Amino acid sequence: AYEKLWLALALVLIVGFIGTITYGAAGAGIEMIDDKGGTVDPATLDDHPKFGDPGIEKTGENSYDVYLVARQFVFEPGTSEPLRVPAGSTVTFHVTAADVIHGFDVVGTNANTMAIPGQVAEFTVRFEEPGEYGIVCNEYCGSGHHVMEGSIVVM
Ligand code: CUA
Repeated sequence: AYEKLWLALALVLIVGFIGTITYGAAGAGIEMIDDKGGTVDPATLDDHPKFGDPGIEKTGENSYDVYLVARQFVFEPGTSEPLRVPAGSTVTFHVTAADVIHGFDVVGTNANTMAIPGQVAEFTVRFEEPGEYGIVCNEYCGSGHHVMEGSIVVM
């Protein structure tokens, strides 16, 4: 008889979690809508056609690709200058790391991934509302971990 009760409780919890995630994304004006990945050779990252000169490129009317490298203790691009995108654009991020494992977390949104040497995290984000959004590294990566940050400006 208790099994049904536990099942019901578990369902309530799951619905609650989904609600929290949806609310978090909608509230911030940024929404992560896709998540996949690939691989890259970290030894030749600097010679890579995209990651060798990381940055943003326009791929369509309202769409962009961002190739981003995390390394101790910066996001390239994002740290030395904010990453700038127009409001209403859809941006596919390709994120990797040059040295050790880092995190890439757009503060207050569900755009969040690990940046792992040799792997490319790929996810698509829709930027709806203008504003400045912080990026932080949320994986411990060394002595400068706590200052590893950047920003995205939605114009
Ligand atoms: Cu990079 Cu913590």
